[in-house]
Amino acid sequence: MLSVIYVSVADPAIGSADLVALVAQAQANNARDALTGALIYNGQNFMQLLEGPVSKVEACLARIRADRRHNGMIEVRRRLVEAREFAAFSMLYSPLFRDHGEDLSRLAARGGLDPQDERLITSFLALGGHGGAG
Ligand SMILES: Cc1cc2nc3c(=O)[nH]c(=O)nc-3n(C[C@H](O)[C@H](O)[C@H](O)COP(=O)(O)O)c2cc1C
Repeated sequence: MLSVIYVSVADPAIGSADLVALVAQAQANNARDALTGALIYNGQNFMQLLEGPVSKVEACLARIRADRRHNGMIEVRRRLVEAREFAAFSMLYSPLFRDHGEDLSRLAARGGLDPQDERLITSFLALGGHGGAG
């Protein structure tokens, strides 16, 4: 399976109703496509992990990349995995990732992982419920 984490810059016009619709759309499609993952939003940036069969992940990323509800999508982690990190979630959504909102903005502006991002990634993966290892 393929697991990809990306960050992006949300369209500033996006509102909470738009986000509810986006997440519902993602969950329905992902259930169909055997994809799982998580999405966080700090008011400016998205970070998403998408995992599943390689071709399904790639096809979904291509759709997401073309989506005008955000831009500046940058992959920060890509790996082949044996086990899912968010097996229980077609798309876990955490709108207010309060403790790490600024870390996410810095990462999205910088466009690549630094050692200092480890806390952010670890906390993000911990949303999946198993400590963020791997
Ligand atoms: C931040 C963000 C995350 C998204 N995540 C997903 C996702 O996990 N799965 C998905 O199918 N679409 C996701 N989308 C929506 C896709 O860009 C696209 O609109 C959708 O897949 C098209 O679905 P449709 O064929 O049902 O119209 C996301 C969009 C954004 C902006």
